[in-house]
Amino acid sequence: MAIILDGKALAKKCKETVKKEAESLKRTPGLAVIIVGNNPASRVYVNSKRKDCEECGFLSEEYALPEETTEAELIALIHELNAREDIDGILCQLPLPKGINEEAVLMAIDPEKDVDGFHPMNMGALLIGKDGFLPCTPYGVMEILDEYGIDPKGKQCVVVGRSNIVGKPMAILLLQRHGTVTICHSRTPNLAEICRTADILVAAVGKVNIVTADMIKPGAVVIDVAMNHNDAGKLCGDVDYEAAKEVASAITPVPGGVGPMTRAMLMKNTLLSARKRQD
Ligand code: GUN
Repeated sequence: MAIILDGKALAKKCKETVKKEAESLKRTPGLAVIIVGNNPASRVYVNSKRKDCEECGFLSEEYALPEETTEAELIALIHELNAREDIDGILCQLPLPKGINEEAVLMAIDPEKDVDGFHPMNMGALLIGKDGFLPCTPYGVMEILDEYGIDPKGKQCVVVGRSNIVGKPMAILLLQRHGTVTICHSRTPNLAEICRTADILVAAVGKVNIVTADMIKPGAVVIDVAMNHNDAGKLCGDVDYEAAKEVASAITPVPGGVGPMTRAMLMKNTLLSARKRQD
């Protein structure tokens, strides 16, 4: 029976630390969150971010723009926020409506305020091991591993999923910590076989039960990044959790694992930005 990696409890602790550290700054950290259109999942995420800002004592501003907003209008708003002294972080909730070029929008955010860590400048910094904002989800995963004393050094790490937001940066962070990293994806033919080599297995695909218990090496650490809904409408990850926890030595639950840590790392990045900008 695996240890349950309690992301929810750790996130609470992280946010308390962020709040305390924010109080020692000359100015309240400020986060601007932009949401375009009516995606219900995005609405839930944005509401949570506002709540997190309140908990951390941050200034939070929400810009809810209509579905028919143009790319030029959105970029104009970002330029305004880039110029604001009191705004330390700018987050544009993804996905954006069709017709808006996501890359152009993310590129418009000042890399110094890119608390999502999605700007090519920050992605590039991550790749070559320079300072920059880390994308919140993989950052949160590393914090969970550290909290529980799980060191990637010398371990076989398998990341399933190759998104820019999670899979790719996750692999880089594990590599930086001296893990031996394999990235798998939807076209990997021998997925089960490769997963079975993992000491640390990170599932970040977005497909219910893509990782089953037989794909887990006994004693492995299993990190489930996904947020899916199963046929019964229940929130679940990529891993067959009930069976997997009998095989793994440690596992993140969904909900209550990586999700809360992603949110906590957004607060941490906003604090780091505010600190850097005041110095
Ligand atoms: N959509 C899903 N996850 C994220 C995230 O971490 N940041 C942003 N901006 N949009 C998202």
